Amino acid sequence: MTFQAVITEDGSTTLFIPELNEHYHSIHGAVQESMHIFIREGYAQIRNFPARIFEAGFGTGLNAFLTFLVSEKERKSIHYSAIEKFPLEDHLVSLLNYPEKTDPAKAEIFHALHDASWDQDIRLSEYFTLHKMQGDLRKVQLLDESYDLVFFDAFGPDVQPELWTEEIFRMLYQSMKEGASLVTYSVKGSVKRALKAAGFSLQKLPGPPGKREMTRATKKN
Ligand SMILES: C[S@@+](CC[C@H](N)C(=O)[O-])C[C@H]1O[C@@H](n2cnc3c(N)ncnc32)[C@H](O)[C@@H]1O
Repeated sequence: MTFQAVITEDGSTTLFIPELNEHYHSIHGAVQESMHIFIREGYAQIRNFPARIFEAGFGTGLNAFLTFLVSEKERKSIHYSAIEKFPLEDHLVSLLNYPEKTDPAKAEIFHALHDASWDQDIRLSEYFTLHKMQGDLRKVQLLDESYDLVFFDAFGPDVQPELWTEEIFRMLYQSMKEGASLVTYSVKGSVKRALKAAGFSLQKLPGPPGKREMTRATKKN
């Protein structure tokens, strides 16, 4: 697989994979998109702390980094688990400018997120513990009723339809606490149908710049 670094409209970088014709983030602004979907419409909706987050697709570590920054600022404890099948090589991580675009003083933490050992809890601060899982979302075994929030950030459903299925959403539903939400950028009809069939209640929310809508799926009785 080859990767190209691209500067998005808010000045933050993302990666592009020509073979898949897919970007890791919106070209309208990588940091802007992650802040909107995963922090404002995800993290900011958590009611009880300490909280547990599960991310599908660790990728560039942008969502984990933004979550680290907000948890430090608010002094709220987060246990952040993330699965990744294809970890990025160091030279690709070095092309990413997320600390520069958010909090340059925390550049070391951004690199620590990437350097952290896999498959174990790594305490990166008083408030933030990371647990990266190297593996395939389709095979992961998660504990029942343990997550307060899920960041569903796989490549798009047209590129990876096998990850946007009722079966995967059921597995995630099972792993989430009552009242917990899953947030994702996709509003595709087949994705919404699969989420509903897995038991979620859906909300269509305004999307980040360049994207009209996004989805929040909540586990409700
Ligand atoms: C949209 S990108 C990454 C988004 C990431 N949250 C970020 O901010 O960079 C999707 C990620 O899912 C990963 N991925 C693809 N297939 C996967 C699978 N079957 N299991 C786990 N991760 C997968 C990709 O390698 C990629 O890093």
